[in-house]
Amino acid sequence: MGGGSLTCLKEDKLGMSKTPITVAYGDGIGPEIMSAVLQILEAAGAQVTPEVIEIGESVYLRGHTSGIEDSAWESLRRTKVFLKAPITTPQGGGYKSLNVTVRKTLGLYANVRPVQSYEPFVTTKHKSIDLVIVRENEEDLYAGIEHQQTNEVVQCLKLISRPGTERIVRYALEFARRNGRKKVTCITKDNIMKLTDGLFHRVFDELGAEYPELVKEHMIVDIGAARLAEMPERFDVILAPNLYGDILSDIAAEVAGSVGLAGSANVGDEVAMFEAVHGSAPDIAGKGIANPSGLLQGAILMLVHIGQPEVAARIKNAWLKTLEEGIHTADIYDERVSVQKVGTQEFARAVIERLGQEPDRLRPARFGKPSPEPMVPRVERKPAAQKELVGVDVFVDWKGQKPEELAAQLQPLATNNLELVMITNRGVKVWPGGFPETFRTDHWRGRFMGQGVRHADVVALLTRVAEAGLDFIKTENLYTFDGKPGYSLGQGQ
Ligand code: NAI
Ligand code: MG
Repeated sequence: MGGGSLTCLKEDKLGMSKTPITVAYGDGIGPEIMSAVLQILEAAGAQVTPEVIEIGESVYLRGHTSGIEDSAWESLRRTKVFLKAPITTPQGGGYKSLNVTVRKTLGLYANVRPVQSYEPFVTTKHKSIDLVIVRENEEDLYAGIEHQQTNEVVQCLKLISRPGTERIVRYALEFARRNGRKKVTCITKDNIMKLTDGLFHRVFDELGAEYPELVKEHMIVDIGAARLAEMPERFDVILAPNLYGDILSDIAAEVAGSVGLAGSANVGDEVAMFEAVHGSAPDIAGKGIANPSGLLQGAILMLVHIGQPEVAARIKNAWLKTLEEGIHTADIYDERVSVQKVGTQEFARAVIERLGQEPDRLRPARFGKPSPEPMVPRVERKPAAQKELVGVDVFVDWKGQKPEELAAQLQPLATNNLELVMITNRGVKVWPGGFPETFRTDHWRGRFMGQGVRHADVVALLTRVAEAGLDFIKTENLYTFDGKPGYSLGQGQ
């Protein structure tokens, strides 16, 4: 997205148009670090016009459970660029996470978190980490659809959509291409979740084929996370669904020793939000000692996003130079490498004094001119496959223990075109031919299958199940798509 494509409010002396951005000072250390960051942006010649909104604690306490008011939404939807300081979520029930609200309401589907090590200036075991995690931000287990179905069993629905996956996969590949990255590692658990994670992996293979210049690899999340902790240097761009991405992001930031120095972007088709990874640090608020670096990294990502990559690089290089010279805030101060312990304002001044300089030992930053092409073209929906109903899984809450007894109750309920073929308990086949060793709960599934199944057959079956005095807690229809099963087999089936 180029700055020129956005509404221009003012023109400066150079005739460069200024990009309006929405700014929130947040809570705790938020106001201190935000004002430091805005001073640096201004001194570096960033062409932005901040428009300040109020969000967070004060808004929550005025009675808005979402922590954000209508006027703030209006600004965000107009500027489409949000630089946000951390906010405090008040303790106690009833307050919604503002981050989740903003992310979901504005469709910010991509979470982008660059992680770098700044050895030897910031202590870490790993010397040359320079990776970016691109995490899907809206789907997966975070859809928040949970149910208790029996006394003993609760469930959380894991939703992965093809269009949602295509967007994030495209974003990661395009991000790698445009930023001169070499490799994209896709991380899933598709050896177990063949349909959901399998789809994510498959879309990665499909779209990856359009990027021959990139090395593409896939790792199962357990070994992927282990490698990330042990040899983070081997990673470049990491692409993951929501949950794994959440966990991997923190592993990466932690091993780089730079949780307090990392920023992130939440990007959607229209709007993008930029912030520090850390929170509002109430323990040090108002003392003038907070490190503004995390929010500054967020602002640097923002400048690249709005088409001011040279300004972004100027700031990043002055910041690297400041780190190198040992001018450190208390959180990263270390007698072995630090020279001077400074507060927030002094640190900002040190960065400003070094604008135009480059680091000597750390690798200088370079950011490419953003392409006017959108990162992700509108996803074109695939033509729908031939979908055929072939059966139904009926889940029942049943307090018995012997699967044969449940089978004896379910079998007579079968109709001409829906026959009982299997019973499972927590996914494991227990009938026909189960093992007594298999642990059983009160959550059972009877799988009924047949030919030429219609919805009416399913409804008739359920009526008979209820009349037989069984508590059916949910059903899942079984479909084939172009003849291929759209459901998993029972373990042991
Ligand atoms: P935190 O990240 O605010 O603080 C953890 C520790 O790191 C504290 O000791 C703090 O002093 C230190 N720290 C954090 N940022 C620092 C900085 N820039 N300079 C120097 N030291 C820094 O996490 P915590 O304490 O768990 O959460 C505090 C509040 O922040 C909570 O209300 C939480 O909900 C909120 N939070 C907000 C986030 C956001 O708005 N994106 C993200 C994470 C937490
Ligand atoms: Mg997290």
